[in-house]
Amino acid sequence: MRRKIVAGNWKMNGSKDLVNSLVGQIRSELASLDNGVETVIIPPALYVGDVLSQAGAALTVGIQNVSCWDSGAYTGEISAVMARDAGCSVALVGHSERRQLFGETDEQVAVKVGKALASGLDAVICVGETLEEREAGKAEEVVSAQIRKAVADVSNGQWSQVVVAYEPVWAIGTGKTATADDAQAMHAAIRGVLKELGAPAEEITLLYGGSVKADNAAALFGQPDIDGGLIGGASLKAEDFVGICRAMP
Ligand code: G3P
Repeated sequence: MRRKIVAGNWKMNGSKDLVNSLVGQIRSELASLDNGVETVIIPPALYVGDVLSQAGAALTVGIQNVSCWDSGAYTGEISAVMARDAGCSVALVGHSERRQLFGETDEQVAVKVGKALASGLDAVICVGETLEEREAGKAEEVVSAQIRKAVADVSNGQWSQVVVAYEPVWAIGTGKTATADDAQAMHAAIRGVLKELGAPAEEITLLYGGSVKADNAAALFGQPDIDGGLIGGASLKAEDFVGICRAMP
């Protein structure tokens, strides 16, 4: 039985006011939900403490990025150890915005995965192809290579902390979602790669991300290899985010 997860990545959005209005509302609306979904809020790092103080036991909190280092003279960086110490349970690693806008490489992603896992965080490893790569028929090849590199150093005892999020770059923030069938096909391929690598693939939670909304979540979550979602824009409104959590079968 795999974990079912819906995680809200706030990206660089939010404020103390938003934390105060949104988190309590999500918490109370999800209180009666009994579909076994784990709900994660991933705010900008400065608000982790504020979210935690409102989250209660039902919500877990994550960080959007971690450093390649544990501590030292790296101005502006936040380590996985610090994120864990501050109360985070989860770290996003290798989000396409980090790869595309900040030049994060597969090698750095692998180091960050190692740091997250070693510090006790679950690592949500983000992978996904661009529109150009999809149109060139290379989507699976690209995603498979990203995964192989990202998990190269994961040890046998760490797989239970690994989650993979498939986010096709062309679907992020665009309103274009992969069809449930296309997303399922990629998720099955991802599980196949994990299996080839000797991971307990059937136990690893795979999330879909990219313009997930309350009205398309049920079709996506109904697919056999899609175990939840990584939500951007729709995680900033309680009604939308809760609607997505409720869409989990
Ligand atoms: O990490 C979540 C993400 O990149 C998807 O964003 O706004 O398309 O749901 P959005």
